[in-house]
Amino acid sequence: MFREKLAQDAALIQSHFDLVLSALDELDVTRAMTYATQGGKRLRGFLVLESARLHGIDAARAIWPATGIEALHAYSLVHDDLPCMDDDDLRRGRPTVHVKWDDGTAVLAGDALQTLAFELCVRPEVGNAEIRAELTLTLAKASGAQGMVLGQALDIAAETAAGPLTLDEITQLQAGKTGALIEWSACAGARLAQADPTPLRQYAQALGLAFQIADDIMDVEGDAEKAGKRLQKDAEAGKATFVSLLGLDAAKSRAAELVDQACAALDEYGSKAETLKQAARFVIARDS
Ligand code: IPE
Ligand code: IPE
Ligand code: MG
Ligand code: MG
Ligand code: MG
Repeated sequence: MFREKLAQDAALIQSHFDLVLSALDELDVTRAMTYATQGGKRLRGFLVLESARLHGIDAARAIWPATGIEALHAYSLVHDDLPCMDDDDLRRGRPTVHVKWDDGTAVLAGDALQTLAFELCVRPEVGNAEIRAELTLTLAKASGAQGMVLGQALDIAAETAAGPLTLDEITQLQAGKTGALIEWSACAGARLAQADPTPLRQYAQALGLAFQIADDIMDVEGDAEKAGKRLQKDAEAGKATFVSLLGLDAAKSRAAELVDQACAALDEYGSKAETLKQAARFVIARDS
């Protein structure tokens, strides 16, 4: 079952975090880093490990970028939850980092998780210098002002925009906010093998959008207990989402179409890509 495979990879990533983070001095900032990296579905790390398997790459190599992307994602969540951003007090079923410590510790823990992500991608264990440089360069682009940060900036700007965003504008916002890191994760396996990432990129672009639509749907009709975070916040904050623009039903059909598109992009890999196809179906069926 897919959930078991995901849980197995999540456990691999957790052990790797334990190894890497236990080498740091014990301080509030490092305790906060450890805390922020615990829990979560590990979907991005799973995509790295599974796209690596698709290309015959061993988990011993892929675990480094898999843990790296989860560090980067954890940083994005710590900052996303800050009072100056979404002002959330609950994440993964526990108090957010700035609530458990303070804003300064949360900013610094996020900063250090971000640099840790690049460190993990460029470690000698990952592969030859060209592979490491490519993974690191593409992660920088996916994370910054052309990727995740751009999406977050558009998300904040939309709260105070005069009118509702268009479908194209929301698609661009979400491609940055969520899509860029998911795309990087799915392409990582091809990059580790120095193979063409195009089919995985097509898969991930559809998957990333479906993933964020599912997050927006969960915000409207999810169960906060299962989700482990506060819900019904997007409408309250005036966030622009597929749900706010299309309504729930059309958003659900759009997400289902995108999952079909994601699966079709992997047809050339045959049955080897079955687990990635299961991941696409999971993304819109999840409750957390
Ligand atoms: C939540 O991401 C933030 C978004 C980009 C929508 P996830 O739903 O992957 O969160 P975790 O890692 O499982 O907690
Ligand atoms: C967060 O998006 C995206 C990033 C952290 C890059 P959301 O603000 O929608 O995520 P949740 O709903 O708080 O998990
Ligand atoms: Mg946000
Ligand atoms: Mg948020
Ligand atoms: Mg959300």
